[in-house]
Amino acid sequence: MNTVPSFGVGTFRLKGQTAIDSVRNALDVGYRAVDTAQIYDNQADVGQAIAQSCIARSALFLTTKIWTANYAQTQLVASLRDSLHKLRTDYVDLTLIHWPAPGNGGA
Ligand SMILES: NC(=O)c1ccc[n+]([C@@H]2O[C@H](COP(=O)([O-])OP(=O)(O)OC[C@H]3O[C@@H](n4cnc5c(N)ncnc54)[C@H](OP(=O)(O)O)[C@@H]3O)[C@@H](O)[C@H]2O)c1
Repeated sequence: MNTVPSFGVGTFRLKGQTAIDSVRNALDVGYRAVDTAQIYDNQADVGQAIAQSCIARSALFLTTKIWTANYAQTQLVASLRDSLHKLRTDYVDLTLIHWPAPGNGGA
């Protein structure tokens, strides 16, 4: 999606069936932006919820965040590929560095 939806659903602290149900419910009532992160350990749940929703990928705005342990040049791309695999997509609309972590090869 080219524009950022005005409302989005967050998934911090949600895991497993709770995360799946939360994202599914949000999508069912019209949310089209979903926020997750590697450290939330729920990207596979989010991916499952999106897959089950049958909403076109192009209609969604999906955000994930790279965790600090993956900021090194040798790990960042691989970790993002792993995120994409878990999210069952070949792109995310927004990739964030979770937060600065000087010394981790990041910002
Ligand atoms: N906190 C951060 O530092 C931070 C940073 C970056 C991004 N985010 C993103 O922003 C989102 C919101 O962050 P926040 O700090 O506002 O979180 P928060 O204060 O923990 O608020 C979580 C919200 O989710 C609702 N909720 C909890 N369990 C739910 C469920 N099973 N299904 C549906 N809704 C549920 C809660 O409702 P009740 O009030 O009724 O319990 C509450 O309104 C996060 O999920 C994350 O994706 C957060």
